[in-house]
This record gives sequence, C-alpha cells and structure tokens, in this order.
Amino acid sequence: MNILDLSGRTAMVTGAAHGLGAAIADALHTHGAQVALLDHDAPANRDTAAHLGSRAVAITADLADLDRLDNACAEAVQQLGPVDILVNNAAMAPMRGLWDIDPTEWDAVFAVNVRAAFFLTRTIAAGMRARGFGRIVNIASLSGQQARPTGAHYGVSKAALIAMTRSFASELAPDGVTVNAVAPGMIETPMVHTIGTDKKAELTAQIPVGRIAAPAEIAGLVAYLASDAAGFITGATYDINGGVLMR
Ligand SMILES: NC(=O)c1ccc[n+]([C@@H]2O[C@H](COP(=O)([O-])OP(=O)(O)OC[C@H]3O[C@@H](n4cnc5c(N)ncnc54)[C@H](O)[C@@H]3O)[C@@H](O)[C@H]2O)c1
Repeated sequence: MNILDLSGRTAMVTGAAHGLGAAIADALHTHGAQVALLDHDAPANRDTAAHLGSRAVAITADLADLDRLDNACAEAVQQLGPVDILVNNAAMAPMRGLWDIDPTEWDAVFAVNVRAAFFLTRTIAAGMRARGFGRIVNIASLSGQQARPTGAHYGVSKAALIAMTRSFASELAPDGVTVNAVAPGMIETPMVHTIGTDKKAELTAQIPVGRIAAPAEIAGLVAYLASDAAGFITGATYDINGGVLMR
C-alpha cells in the first residue's frame, strides 16, 4: 500500500506558478492528485500546469482580490470537482527595515499572506466539512518563529498564519479536516534570489546542514500532510530549516 497515494483527491495550491508552490503542485500531482494551480502570473502558471500534463489546471487570480477568489474557487470546482486538499503557499516577502515599511506595503503583505489564506480556507473548508474530509496546509516560515533584522511585516504575517492554522485546526478537527503549517527556512526559489548573492551566502553559512533547501524537500512533507496517512496530525507547525531552529 502506498500511504502517500492521493489518487481521487483534488488539490488547490496558491502561488503555484513558481518556486515552492510549483514543487508542491508537482509533488501532489506525482502522488496522483488532480491539481488546480492558482497564481496571478497567468503565463507562467499556464506553463507550470501544462508541464504537469493531465489532471492539472491553471487558474489566474490575484489573491489580494477577494471577489475574484470566490470565482477562482468556483472555477476549480467546476473543472476538477470539490477540493480535498488546500495549500496556502503564495506570499509576498519584501525585506525592508522597520522604518522603511509604509502602511500600503503592510496592508499588501497582509492581504496576500494572511487575509487571502483566511477567506480561501473558509470558502474551501465549508465543502470539506460537509464531506467529512479535508487537508489544509499553510506555508509559514522560520521568519514567523524567529526574528530577522528585515521584513517585520512578513515575519508578523507568518506568525499570524501559524496562529490561524491552530484556530482552523481546532474548529475543524471534529469534521475530518486537518490543518497544519510548515515553517521552512531558506529554500532555493525566485524569492531567495531577491536577497542578493552576498546575503544568501551569509545566511547559508548560518545553516547547520550547510546549504539551503531544495523546493522538493519541503514539498515532500506537504504531500505527506495531505495524505490519508496524516489524519491524526492537526494544528501542528513543522520546522524544516536545516537545523537553524531546534526544539
Ligand atoms: N524561499 C524561501 O526561502 C522561503 C522560506 C520560508 C518560507 N517561504 C514561503 O514559501 C512560500 C513560497 O515561497 P517561494 O519562495 O516559492 O516564493 P516565490 O516568490 O518564488 O513564489 C511565490 C508565488 O506566489 C505567487 N504570488 C505572489 N503574490 C500573489 C498574489 N497576490 N496572487 C496570486 N499569486 C501570487 C507568485 O506569482 C509566485 O508564483 C511562501 O509562503 C514563502 O513565504 C519561502
């Protein structure tokens, strides 16, 4: 028996055009799920979905636009059927010092990283609850657990996502719907390329395993949490950071 078999399941992954989201969509798809890839970068999202082949559809939506999100969910359901697995992965991560963060950017980060995850989860979880099965995985960050000198709004948004994971987990636990968070350290994705080569080398030197993660190393854990095998795990936050934070 393959405990990671996801055939017959339908997944939705936000921010799936690039980076970790694309790797998560790939992992879920490889294990047999149908996958709706949701992203605001329409051409790249279409390419990522096409690369997966059958059982994958690209849905264009800006997560900051709540009205569009409801339509995007309806589109996913219309094309693939009810969503069993939701991965809230998309995020904005502008790395700025405290005094350089203006209210517009604060709101933009929270709209994508927290507000969209809350309302998307609520919309999708209603159906999961009614059907008595669901898997929700929120991609948090080590930055939500440990302070860094820049990106306070990003760190606070990820801490909020961890708190939100527990709220949804406790309310949905009796209904067969699990809700967990994964908190990665540095991953080799386009997001990390924005920090520059010197900073990347400096941060890599602080990681006990001596390297940054490949997206597939995080995606494997997400696939496990999405599987039937993980039915007794809920409200957890998984540290996956190469040994930076051990507890
Ligand atoms: N890369 C890292 O080192 C790292 C570390 C810890 C946590 N994370 C988390 O992993 C997740 C994925 O990060 P990544 O490194 O792959 O990022 P990325 O920037 O490489 O990819 C983010 C994806 O989200 C999409 N997206 C962004 N804003 C959107 C919006 N408003 N509407 C729809 N789609 C939107 C982008 O188009 C892109 O496809 C994020 O939650 C991030 O916080 C990343």
